[in-house]
Amino acid sequence: MKPIKLFITILTLIFSVTISKAQKKIAFVEELLEKMTLDEKIGQLNLITPGGGIATGAVVSKNVEEKLKSGQVGGMFGVAGPEKIKVAQDMVMKNTRLKIPLIIGSDVIHGYKTTFPIPLATSCTWDMEMIEKEAQITAKEATADGIMWNFSPMVDIARDPRWGRIAEGAGEDPYLSSAVARAMVKGYQGNNLSDKNTMMACVKHFALYGAAEGGRDYNSVDMSHIKMFNQYFPPYKAAVDAGVGSVMSSFNDVDGIPATGNKWLLTDVLRNKWGFKGFVVSDYTSINEMIKHGLGNLQDVSVLALKAGLDMDMVGEGFLTTLKKSVEEGKVTREEITNATRLILEAKYKLGLFDNPYLYIDKTRAEEDILTKEHRDFARKIATRSFVLLKNDKQILPLKKDAKIALIGPLANDQSNMLGTWAPTGDYKLSVPVFKGIQNIAPNANIVYAKGANITDDTELAKKINVFGRKVSIDQRSPREMLNEAVKIAKSANIIVAVVGEASEMSGESASMTQISLPESQKKLIRALVKTGKPVVLVLMSGRPLVITEEFKMPVSILQVWHPGVEAGNAIADVLFGNYNPSGKLTASWPRSIGQIPIYYSEKNTGRPEENGYEKFKTNYLDVSNTPLIPFGYGLSYTTFEYSDIKVDTKEVIQVKPLHISVNVKNTGKYDGEEVVQLYIHDVVRSITPPKRQLKGFKKVFLKKGESKTVTFTLLPDDLKFYDGDLNFIAEPGIFEVFVGTNSNATLKETFKLK
Ligand code: NOJ
Repeated sequence: MKPIKLFITILTLIFSVTISKAQKKIAFVEELLEKMTLDEKIGQLNLITPGGGIATGAVVSKNVEEKLKSGQVGGMFGVAGPEKIKVAQDMVMKNTRLKIPLIIGSDVIHGYKTTFPIPLATSCTWDMEMIEKEAQITAKEATADGIMWNFSPMVDIARDPRWGRIAEGAGEDPYLSSAVARAMVKGYQGNNLSDKNTMMACVKHFALYGAAEGGRDYNSVDMSHIKMFNQYFPPYKAAVDAGVGSVMSSFNDVDGIPATGNKWLLTDVLRNKWGFKGFVVSDYTSINEMIKHGLGNLQDVSVLALKAGLDMDMVGEGFLTTLKKSVEEGKVTREEITNATRLILEAKYKLGLFDNPYLYIDKTRAEEDILTKEHRDFARKIATRSFVLLKNDKQILPLKKDAKIALIGPLANDQSNMLGTWAPTGDYKLSVPVFKGIQNIAPNANIVYAKGANITDDTELAKKINVFGRKVSIDQRSPREMLNEAVKIAKSANIIVAVVGEASEMSGESASMTQISLPESQKKLIRALVKTGKPVVLVLMSGRPLVITEEFKMPVSILQVWHPGVEAGNAIADVLFGNYNPSGKLTASWPRSIGQIPIYYSEKNTGRPEENGYEKFKTNYLDVSNTPLIPFGYGLSYTTFEYSDIKVDTKEVIQVKPLHISVNVKNTGKYDGEEVVQLYIHDVVRSITPPKRQLKGFKKVFLKKGESKTVTFTLLPDDLKFYDGDLNFIAEPGIFEVFVGTNSNATLKETFKLK
């Protein structure tokens, strides 16, 4: 057979196998639906959490056993471990008429037992292969423990660091967040959802959750459609395009209707415009919360949600308790309930649960696949790549392995805050404190330690932070005593490493803050340490960009390490002592002042841009400049990189053709290192006001010292498009500027014309 014929035959074969698989699924699900009573269908739409294990919300489900046995439950979350999950699955399989297996979900946000850095941190790697691999490991561990559905990725664009949940996403930029969304969906779901190592992803929170007014969690959102489509929707759409199996609605309202009951969002956009084929689950009691939003009683809001295109009710039981009545009263149709049920059954089918309800229940896997050395090694590697070197005063870093170090700070010898927020399946006792990490990496270093300060001296704040266990402990000693001790040991050393920042629960859900500077207790400590005149390295932990304007001006080096996960101490020591040369780049701008928020690099020019510092009648503030303290895309290395020779391969390009841009990057410093080369475009004239610049490409390259490389980017026709005033996705002819460089302030520039 000729190669081309053989190729066509193979293609036809693959195609017909795929078709027949799809047909089998349809036939199976339709047959099952035929057999189901209305009650059984409504039961499938109910997602419960039994409590007692991992609490991720304020209320838990009641009469769980009775509900499971009587077919009133379609899925469950907040339980883990093959034994426990088997008990629940047995209740369903042994007692219900149709034996429809449960789908078991969980929030496995940044690793299961092997906890990786918080998502905001891993986005700073700009390394999509690593992010995909992290998701693969996460899926392997979670499925080994019986969980096959993950409430992740969270892809909400966040431009307000007061919002605690900025920690859970990939920052401020739609292009980068879309890449992260794709990588995570691919990593969790693999090529075959019924493979026992893969799990169904659930992209959340649809939509606009990150734009809560004032950065206050769960607050209202009000946004133009142009902004939604151009800035906030792309990552959700990227997840849908990558085949995400499910979507979670958000708590906030969109155009005055809560996302959970918003037909325009869940049906017109998600299904009709984007072609989403999976199921939509509410967020925790978000159907019921529409009562408080002011949209009626439980029956009304349940009708609203179902009709909007929401399929599964998380914890609230509005569907379970009112839908039948609504059918009887003609408020919803049987068909609407059948449609929602169908999507949930299809998901279970894809996960292989109908073939084997116990597919993910295997004690041997739980013992073998979780927290392996390989997984921990990877956690350490990705953590080192997520750190961002914000300052390296007098090139004090990397440190010598035999240095005399005063290790100081409330987070320097801490375990309970290393995992970060949203690590309900992790175990903080497994995490490596910084002190231990330094001892591991630099056994010959001479280390003296003092706590120096409490994370905060504010007992009221500490109480709120400690709801999930003690994260902030206020020392018996007075702040003065602690400070004196720290200064004394600091004076005895050659270098001070101060590990400071936020406790893990100072960010995350329901952890918004109006002050995002370092707490006063730690500011005092840093001032005193700097006063000793010794070189100071601040190892800064946080779940959000902080306002560090005061510290940034000091003669200190700053390594931002976020909350690094289970291998925290080892990874931090790897970077401090130069085993790995830092390459992380910020994915959200760091403001000079809280008053600048919302802050993001892709802002618009306005008609009166600030050009030469403060001028009257220009857009600016009297007290601070418009620029962030540290821009998007920023991050230093122990070495230096020089950019030159930007070239576009054609000065005029037609709409359907790609365009290539190349640049030369040279490692001009003393160390080998990795650099994230970034490309931004500016559409100079268009029908709706353009952002000043937009990220449209990035590449991570490794360069030995002295080495140069030509880095080439391809701009595809879609990269030049935007949603216009009528929400058509188009590119408009005209001049584009291209900037390539080391962060969003890149100055190397070329132009081309789109015809
Ligand atoms: C509420 C959170 O908003 C959501 O992200 C999470 O998945 C659910 N609780 C379930 O824990």
